[in-house]
Parts: sequence; C-alpha cells; structure tokens
Amino acid sequence: MAGGVPITKRQAVAGYISEQILEQIRQANDVVEVIGSYFPLRRAGANFRALCPFHKEKTPSFNVNPQKQIWHCFGCGEGGDVFKFVMKYESLDFTTAVRRLAERAGVRVEFEEANGGSGRGDKELLLKLHEQAAAFFHEYMLKDKAAEPARDYLRKRAITPETVRKWRIGYAPDSWDALLQWAKARKFSTALLEMAGLVLRSERGPDAPRLYDRFRGRLIFPICDEQGRVVAFSGRILTNAKDLPRSDRDQPKYVNSPETAIFQKGRLLFALDKAKRAIIEAKTVVVCEGQIDTISCHEAGFENVVAPQGTAFTEQHARILKRYADEVVLMFDSDEAGQKAAVRSAEPLWDMGFTLRVALLPSGYDPDSFVKKFGSAKLRELIDKAPRFLTFLLERLGQQHDAKTERGKVQIIQEAVGWLCRVQSPTLQATYAQQIGTLLGVREEVIRQEMRRFHRGQRSPAIAGAMQPSAETAAGGVSPPAEEMLLRLMLADERVVGHVDGQLDRAWLSNSDAARVITRVLALYAKNAWTGPTTLLSHEKDDVATRLVTKLLLKPLTIPDPAVAAADCLAVLERQCLERQRDELRKQPAQAGLSSTESAAKLQRQVLDLRQKLDNIYPLSRRKGS
Ligand code: UTP
Ligand code: MN
Repeated sequence: MAGGVPITKRQAVAGYISEQILEQIRQANDVVEVIGSYFPLRRAGANFRALCPFHKEKTPSFNVNPQKQIWHCFGCGEGGDVFKFVMKYESLDFTTAVRRLAERAGVRVEFEEANGGSGRGDKELLLKLHEQAAAFFHEYMLKDKAAEPARDYLRKRAITPETVRKWRIGYAPDSWDALLQWAKARKFSTALLEMAGLVLRSERGPDAPRLYDRFRGRLIFPICDEQGRVVAFSGRILTNAKDLPRSDRDQPKYVNSPETAIFQKGRLLFALDKAKRAIIEAKTVVVCEGQIDTISCHEAGFENVVAPQGTAFTEQHARILKRYADEVVLMFDSDEAGQKAAVRSAEPLWDMGFTLRVALLPSGYDPDSFVKKFGSAKLRELIDKAPRFLTFLLERLGQQHDAKTERGKVQIIQEAVGWLCRVQSPTLQATYAQQIGTLLGVREEVIRQEMRRFHRGQRSPAIAGAMQPSAETAAGGVSPPAEEMLLRLMLADERVVGHVDGQLDRAWLSNSDAARVITRVLALYAKNAWTGPTTLLSHEKDDVATRLVTKLLLKPLTIPDPAVAAADCLAVLERQCLERQRDELRKQPAQAGLSSTESAAKLQRQVLDLRQKLDNIYPLSRRKGS
C-alpha cells in the first residue's frame, strides 16, 4: 500500500486537517499496535509498558494505555497520542506523521483545504518546476560545453564530481532567457515561473514589459526542504567581484530565490535533509554560515552540519533543530563580524535551552578553506574542543570591557546576568551562576544579587503582584494543585466540563500549564467541539500541554463524585484569587505612600468586602486542593 495512497496535503498546520479525518485515522491505528511495531510492549495491569525510547532508563516507566489510546512516560514526562508518538519517534512533522499512519492503515484521505484549494495546486506545481529546473541546471553543468568555466571553477575549489552529483550542483546558462525557453517548451506557465522567482519582469526598455532569467551564468545550489525536495536556488558568481569589469562590480556574490509558497527562509536550514540522521545520532548539530562550507564539511565526514539560507539564524530554526538535537555547535569566523554573528545566532538557541558551544575558526578561514588546508582531523578537534558558549561570551566581554576596573567588572557581570536570567532550568541556571562566578573571580552571591536586581528591573511591581502565588511554580512546570485536580476531573468526566463552564471565573486561574489547558477545554466546549481528551492531543504544537494531559489521564482517579470534587476545586480557586486581591490591596497604601485618610478608608472597605466574600466560600469537602 505504501506510496499508493493518493493523499494531498496543504501546509503542515494541524488546524487545517479536520478533526473528523484525524479521528478516522486515529481509530484505524491502535496505539498499542503501532508502538508495538517499533519495540515490544509488556502488559502491566491496564497499561502496556516498556523502557522509554525518549530517555535513558533501567526500569520501564513508559506506559501505553489502550482504553484511552495514549502513551506517557513518567520518567521524562513525554506523552501524547498515536500521532505524537510517530512524530517523536521518527522525527516527523505532524502532517507527515498523519500521512504515514493513514498509509499504514490504508485509509484513503483528502486533507482539507483551509481556503478553496488553489494553494495546494500552486505548491505542487512549484515543487515540480523546482525539481525539473534543478535537473536542467545540473545537466547543463555536467554536459554543456558552455559550462566549462563553471567546471573549471569547481576544480579550482577542489569540489569533486561526486560532490557535484550528490548535491546536484548546477550551472545557469549565461543568457537572459535560457531557463525561460526551457520552461516554455515544458509547458510551465510564465505566471508560475514568476511566482517561483525564477524569472523577473523588467518594466524598462523598448520591448517592456519583458521577462528574463534571475539566475544567469552562476553556479547553482539547489536548496532542499527537510524532505529533500528542491524548493529554491542559490546562485554563486564565478568570478570574485574585484576581478569583474568595473561595470559589473556591484553584482552580488550570491543571488537567492525569493520567498515563495514552498520556501520560507526563516525556517529552512540548508542540508538538513542530508544531515538529519547524523544529527539525531549525535544529538548534536553544527551550524555554520554558508552552503559551500556546509557541503565541504559533509564531504569531509561531518554530516551533522547545516546552515541558514540567505538569512540570519532565527527562532524558528532553533525550534526545528530542537526536534533532533540537544546540543548546537556554532562554527563561525573569529573576526569581529563572525563573533557578532555567533552571539546573535546564539540567542534563540540559548533561549530554547540547548547546550551551546562556539567553535571559532582561525582568522581568515571559513570551514571550507579550513578543512581543505588542515584536514578533517583538525576540524574534528576544533569542533570537539569548542568552548561552552558562556566561556566564549565571558572571554568576549572581557575583551570589550576592562575587567580590572570596578566599572568594567560590573558591566561584564550585568551582561552575563542578562543571559543567565533567560535560562529556563533552575538547575542549569545555578550551574551557570557558579561558572560565571568562578570565571570572573567573584563570589556566587554577587551574581545572585545581580540576578535579583535584573529581575526587579525587568518586571513591574504590578505584574509581579498579579503572578504572585503561581509565578514560581508555573515556571518550573508545576501547576497549582487545585487547577491540576480540576483539569483531571474535566478530562475524566464530560459533565464536569459543563459545570466548570458555568461556574468558573477565568480571573481565578493563574498562568500555569493546567490553567492554559482548562481554558482550551472550555473554548472547545463553547464551540461544541469538545469530544474528550483526545481533542487536545492532536494540537501537537503545545508539547507542555500534551505531556500534562497524558500524565493526568494515566494517573488513576478514584473519586466517588467528580462533580462535588470539581466544585471544591472551584471554591479553592476563587478563594485563592480573592486572597491574592486582598493581599495586593493591603500592600498598596504602603507602596503608593498613600496618606490621605479618604483613600485609606476606601481600601479598608475593599479589604473588608473581600474578607466577607472569603468567609462565604466553603469548599464542600475540605480534604484536598488548598
Ligand atoms: P560567504 O560570503 O561567507 O560565502 O556567505 P561562502 O558561503 O563562504 O561562499 P564562498 O566560499 O565565498 O564561495 C555565507 C552565506 O551567506 C549567504 C549565502 O548563503 C552564503 O553561503 N550570502 C552571502 C548571500 O545570501 N548573499 C550574498 O551576497 C553573500
Ligand atoms: Mn567560503
């Protein structure tokens, strides 16, 4: 059946695939059977159990529940439905995972179109055009007499014929309309060529408007998406700008495809399709700056190397890499521009919690010239010995400021603390704080003080107050017990959802994960779209929510009357909310320095009012929650 099912798809956005179709595919793929086809599962009571494939462990804490059709690991907290498992285990995006499972079960599906459906047709045509154009450029490079300068250039740069084949490097004829004519003969419309950015429109000249090829007389690198489909091109000039005739000196070194329906710079990483396996194996990815650098690294045996394409490294890039790696090594020039670029690229990666290292090449070298001059053993050494980002950062700060003066030291600490405060994991933060202290020769307490100051400066008192009881717990991924219990009850019993819908004031909720999921359940309920917990699990975007939901679902719930328990939770939440308000009000006079008896009296009344309300809230049973 594989490959034989005609499935069309739109962009990989979960929301575009209707819940009905997902349900159909879900039902055709039993979670125990699917997971059991990857590795053996053992029955353990109501669940099936195995060693978790997502973290190292000696005793099995990975559970699969056939009744609820979910899986969850109590060791690492991962969890989800059958789609989520295939996504994670095979490192696929949501749509591809859905497609894989549809194929597995032989389900024939048409993915829904969000608006009409013209988008899908365009994308397929664009992909077809790019695939064939890549072949056109490549053949031309290999065979045409006129491509001799390009072949000569590659020889000079020691790029072998095998490399040219593997990366499908091509050459664009040095002509205004070679591709245009080729495309016409193949019945590609000029509208499509323009949409792809392969031809441009000139509004000047006697025969305007006139169409002409974007890529002319350039070395062509096909840019592939994660699935290895050609989605864009990058064309390098054959001559260095300084060797060109004066009139041509403003020619850019690289000309790139514009963004199209199939190419978004911010989320494309060059060579990811070829690097994926090596990245997953090593759990490490090396990020460099250019495509020739990337190719040279791969050819030298470093297959976990990628590069952003015609843009700076983005948060989306970081998110993509997070699916495959825990560690990133940034490989940049050691000159000022390179170091700056390293710091800039580090930001999204740092925020996402990667282990981050920086490999600086000796000045004047890029990865391509480095590996060609010194060989792969030296490059291996450079990557393996690359210092931690923090070490690199402090060294750089040490060059920018004078660490011998008090003022310079303060500046260094402040900048370092800025990075430190963005670390999500408290353990990691503590380790880093210690490291910074050691590296700078100051006591750790000084760093901690500076961190507190940084936090105070960043957060206005009002926000700090509003977040008060839950701020710390929410950051650590722990939700207030009453919220978590309420959510558990809602997941277990649909009637509770209706009850909560009528009774809960959103203001009672904190900003915890549980609160977020509760809000989502209620939103679905309001739209008449709540069909039980699985409704939540197909929203693969929110990993934290999925983990929380599967965790709560797998915990046995032995409560005689969920409705009563839910009412208790609501009472606790209301009470906590009022208490927060009261405490806020009590603090106010002191904070604002209010002295007028009138406003003091007003506040006093409000506090009393709240106290009275509080006295009226009695949880029905006072055993748990608060
Ligand atoms: P580099 O100037 O470092 O080029 O640009 P390179 O990759 O080392 O190429 P060679 O070795 O000089 O031939 C790094 C990357 O920045 C993008 C390209 O993706 C390039 O690979 N770039 C550079 C552009 O998009 N446009 C340009 O004009 C220059
Ligand atoms: Mn280079």
